[in-house]
Amino acid sequence: MSDNTIARNKSMTRFDQHDSVWLFGYGSLIFKADFPFIERRPAHIVGWSRRFWQGSHDHRGTVQAPGRVVTLIRDEGATCAGMAYLITPEVFDHLDYREKNGYLRLATDILFEDGSCTEGLIYIATEENAAFLGPASERDIARQIAGAEGPSGRNADYLLGLAVALRELGKDDPHVFEIERHLQLLGEMNVASGKDKDAAAKPHP
Ligand code: BEZ
Repeated sequence: MSDNTIARNKSMTRFDQHDSVWLFGYGSLIFKADFPFIERRPAHIVGWSRRFWQGSHDHRGTVQAPGRVVTLIRDEGATCAGMAYLITPEVFDHLDYREKNGYLRLATDILFEDGSCTEGLIYIATEENAAFLGPASERDIARQIAGAEGPSGRNADYLLGLAVALRELGKDDPHVFEIERHLQLLGEMNVASGKDKDAAAKPHP
């Protein structure tokens, strides 16, 4: 099920000689960074949309019940809001390993809220990787997320954490918020039918 992208990412030497590099986070990186960083700033990239189109059997799901996590899809004129981290190139080893299930490094322009711009990095999972799941309705995505849990925790917590973090940044993302709405509806349905003991859509306190 895995492409293991570590070797391909190691051959991406674009920033190796830099003392520091901006990394743009658009998924869990917005609310959780498990690596050292020098500075972080809200930022956005242009020409990409965030989508829950990448399967996760190693972090937020299993091989039997894969979860869904975000990737970026080319979308002319679209803007994707997130959080940029200034890191040293050594951090790539950690990220390449963590994201080995299909994510590739790509250089792109990152725009900051003060209007400045820099070339930095994103990790994207394209449709060529084995774990790519592609489009589905927000309702179906929510159902899949509700039933998935992996070594990194419940897939629902990933989605809900991302939605909260985007709201805190004051950013809209109709795709994410619509999945969140369906997930909450599923939780309410579980409560109504008495199946709420482990309701996947129930946010943890
Ligand atoms: C992120 O959370 O922004 C992220 C998504 C995919 C791979 C690496 C980072």
